Amino acid sequence: MATRKKIGLIGAGNIGGELARLFANAELGDVWLYDIPAKENFAKGKALDLEQNGAVLGYDSNIRGTANWADLEGADVLVITAGIPRKPGQSRDDLVATNLPIIRDVANNAKKFCPNAFAIVISNPLDAMVYEYRRVLGCAGSQVAGMAGVLDSARFQLFLAREAGVSVKDVRAMVLGGHGDDMVPVLSMTTINGVPASTLIAKDKLTAIIERTRKGGGEIVNLMGTSAYYAPASSAVAMAAAYLHDQKRLLACAAYLDGEYGYKDLFMGVPCIIGGKGVEKIIDIPLTEEEKAMLANSAKSVQSVVDVVKKS
Ligand SMILES: NC(=O)c1ccc[n+]([C@@H]2O[C@H](COP(=O)([O-])OP(=O)(O)OC[C@H]3O[C@@H](n4cnc5c(N)ncnc54)[C@H](O)[C@@H]3O)[C@@H](O)[C@H]2O)c1
Repeated sequence: MATRKKIGLIGAGNIGGELARLFANAELGDVWLYDIPAKENFAKGKALDLEQNGAVLGYDSNIRGTANWADLEGADVLVITAGIPRKPGQSRDDLVATNLPIIRDVANNAKKFCPNAFAIVISNPLDAMVYEYRRVLGCAGSQVAGMAGVLDSARFQLFLAREAGVSVKDVRAMVLGGHGDDMVPVLSMTTINGVPASTLIAKDKLTAIIERTRKGGGEIVNLMGTSAYYAPASSAVAMAAAYLHDQKRLLACAAYLDGEYGYKDLFMGVPCIIGGKGVEKIIDIPLTEEEKAMLANSAKSVQSVVDVVKKS
């Protein structure tokens, strides 16, 4: 008998709520929205509101709120947003002291209740949090991915589309490296449906777009006083759908590197194939010398936060 997939959303805050809405609307499975005991009723209320939304929009997914990890038993997918988001003036790395014990708590519980779930980590500082999650779980690198590249690429694609005056659907672009201000928009591979972006957009405008992309998260934090959540949630759902439907999508994700691109025992944004076996393959793309240098710089930043995590 066919059964529905079980989706566990760890953190019922801004991204968690939007994730639940998107998972249910796409009928990707039944959703458990987990939060800490102090926010159990909040998670339950949000879940009930979203379940009632199904009667209007026409989806049948069950959505439940909980503060009991046992309810997550056997989950197929976990999306982790547990932790605090940035406030204006903060960098993602400023969150490490608060979010590290939280990710450890989440990973210890995941290990106990759903050790085989494909996990997508969103909590910041992203590359270090996904590293720690996998380390605690002790699972294969292919079972865990960090969400950043899909979002950063989406920001890059939007700015390019608006500048070129073309549909965002036709922009092909990827942002690699760590999820920080030195992330690497890969200009050499950026096209408008195969046409190099530099054909349609002047060099100075491209430079400004790259800069805006790198600060894209901060731009929203400064406007709203907290992190973005609509596009981050959609980005994680795209990754989860690729896994659940074995879509073999080529997406930029923070993946466990074991020698790829010259890095070992590090999570960082690289092009990956996501399918039914998780992160099935890391694609080694030819980068220009300048891009390689930017990636090395970004990797150095990621490593410095991971070193803090390792010592804590
Ligand atoms: N990777 C990315 O591209 C990206 C983008 C945006 C935001 N983020 C990050 O995602 C995280 C969540 O953002 P948000 O806007 O949803 O924040 P939020 O504050 O709205 O929600 C976070 C939730 O996590 C819960 N939580 C705290 N400790 C927990 C624990 N031990 N177990 C389970 N839940 C716990 C909180 O109670 C809260 O409800 C932040 O760290 C933010 O910086 C990442």
